[in-house]
Amino acid sequence: MSTKTELLKLLSENTGIFLSGQKIGEELQVSRNAIWKAMKQLKDEGYHIESKPSVGYRLKTKSNILTDASVVGDLRYPCDLRVFDTVDSTNNVAKEITVGNKPVMVIANKQEAGRGRLGRMFASPSGTGLYMTIALRPTFDLNKSLYVTMAVAVAVCRALEKVAGVKVKIKWVNDLFYKNKKICGILTEAQTNFESGKIDSLIIGIGVNCFPGSFPEDLKDIVGCVSDKKNAFSRGKLAAEIYNQTLEILENLESKSFLIEYRTKCFLLGKNIRIHANLNETSIKARAIDIDDNGGLVVEYMEGPKMRQIETLTTGEVSVRLEE
Ligand code: BTN
Repeated sequence: MSTKTELLKLLSENTGIFLSGQKIGEELQVSRNAIWKAMKQLKDEGYHIESKPSVGYRLKTKSNILTDASVVGDLRYPCDLRVFDTVDSTNNVAKEITVGNKPVMVIANKQEAGRGRLGRMFASPSGTGLYMTIALRPTFDLNKSLYVTMAVAVAVCRALEKVAGVKVKIKWVNDLFYKNKKICGILTEAQTNFESGKIDSLIIGIGVNCFPGSFPEDLKDIVGCVSDKKNAFSRGKLAAEIYNQTLEILENLESKSFLIEYRTKCFLLGKNIRIHANLNETSIKARAIDIDDNGGLVVEYMEGPKMRQIETLTTGEVSVRLEE
């Protein structure tokens, strides 16, 4: 950990309290000059650090600036971390990076061309959301890519519970809901090596609406946020925890043990739903029965030519909604 990161951690843990230069030096085991340099870097990044002669330094208010220092201190797995203020899409940025021996995490404070499933846009306003992509070399069979998205949905639920103290629900296959509104979407893509034709890296994009933000009018009834209180938790800590939980769950992907948790969190099960194929507005009524061991949604049709038939939906071009 760099001095800057360690210093931010120490100041954050003592937000509002003055710490003397001597105390900081003892804690971090670095010279006064190194502290001064790290302090300047943090101030330049926008942290509100107050200094009082012969008293010390303090972080005035809990800050929610997304910087590498706000993430690194909480990572439990090796990570090639890249933090930006504004990008077109973190998935696009991640695709340009060659993944070395540690996974890459790209984080942004704002996206100008955030993408969702089925070619939809993902609204990504500044300062209120967390837009991140984890790119990794898959160590598992890629016909498991449906599970990857589902496993990541569980990982994000765990991280939100730990960092923000909220229990969120999953809508098959990759949306997270809180208080009946969508607060997170996941878009998993593959990056193929042009020459070998093989999949080089898996690109897992996660967008979380953390705090109230400015969303287009047509999304206002659909999109929610994790907390109504701005800066109720640290987006940097959330990014780190999502990364940790994702790597932990992917280590054991083959065991499929995450599916048990997925089923308990999936709010569609036992409910009447409408199935839309190929972005069609026309839909068909069905009952969601189960999630099978391959991650498919088992449904029983309630109308139409397949009435009373049971079928398993795999992701692809299907989207489902709760019947109103
Ligand atoms: C969906 O809801 O359909 C999936 C949304 C995925 C959004 C995330 S935000 C970070 C990453 N970058 C993107 O452009 N999309 C994903």
